[in-house]
Amino acid sequence: MTEQFERILITGAAGALGSRLREGLRPMARRLRLHDREDMGAAAAHEEIVRGDLADFASVLEATRDVDAIVHFGGAPMERPWQTVLDSSIRGSYHIYEGARQNKVPRVVYASSIHAVGYYAVEDSVDTRAMHRPDSLYGLSKCFTEDLARLYYDKFGIESVCLRICSCFEAPEGRRHMWSFLTYADMIHLVRCALRVPRAGYTIIYGNSDNEENAVSNRYAGHIGFRPRESVEPHRARVFDTTDAPDAHATDIRHVGGFLCALGHPDDSDDWRV
Ligand SMILES: NC(=O)c1ccc[n+]([C@@H]2O[C@H](COP(=O)([O-])OP(=O)(O)OC[C@H]3O[C@@H](n4cnc5c(N)ncnc54)[C@H](O)[C@@H]3O)[C@@H](O)[C@H]2O)c1
Repeated sequence: MTEQFERILITGAAGALGSRLREGLRPMARRLRLHDREDMGAAAAHEEIVRGDLADFASVLEATRDVDAIVHFGGAPMERPWQTVLDSSIRGSYHIYEGARQNKVPRVVYASSIHAVGYYAVEDSVDTRAMHRPDSLYGLSKCFTEDLARLYYDKFGIESVCLRICSCFEAPEGRRHMWSFLTYADMIHLVRCALRVPRAGYTIIYGNSDNEENAVSNRYAGHIGFRPRESVEPHRARVFDTTDAPDAHATDIRHVGGFLCALGHPDDSDDWRV
């Protein structure tokens, strides 16, 4: 792959997915700028490390300067107390888009989530034009940022690809992951597709691998060119051997958002500690 970009900014670069992108996007840009509030280790020759808080606009404005594209993976990665969601994900995403506008960055690839539409049933085959149905404050912050991306495309022409990542971990653990699992390699492939496509406009796309089961539809996102290359199938037997048969009517089985649909308000309890 030839270098298509001069400089890509990756936020959340210390995280589980961001650290994979640090390697996976290496061939796409001459320089990678890595942003996180946590330690990211030493910078390689092609890297620039910027440590800062997404809630701090001055630092985000600086981090977004002189970049060709932003891969925005920083923020609360799951249900969290309202104040955390507000500061890291809502305020943080606003700062990223405002930084993109002020610094004239043409495209953002955003790590949205299945939890923006978590209350659809698995048999709905929810597509990317369905109305938002967030299942949590976390999901609500993803809806906010998808709408923010839409506004910044319609008004300012900044392209966005919002990746509704389903379940991206080292290995699947539950039966819901039989449709939702996205391997790390497919996640990197998805981000690369979103960066390299000549015209992205404003696009939402689901992120799951080529699993035998599926509960979401990418029929409106074909132009991104994402064809997952891996599957959850090698893990199926282990997952079935180590988990109980689920109740088909249980809240977390019925809905694509899984167990987040069954959680209460995060400020009421420690339920969000997942
Ligand atoms: N892993 C999945 O299955 C999955 C599914 C759907 C969406 N996503 C999204 O992908 C992104 C990355 O997820 P992950 O699994 O790598 O999570 P992660 O927690 O490992 O990474 C998130 C990173 O964001 C950083 N961060 C959080 N708040 C910050 C702030 N205020 N300022 C600066 N940095 C901050 C954290 O330090 C962390 O390194 C998240 O936005 C998450 O919502 C992940």
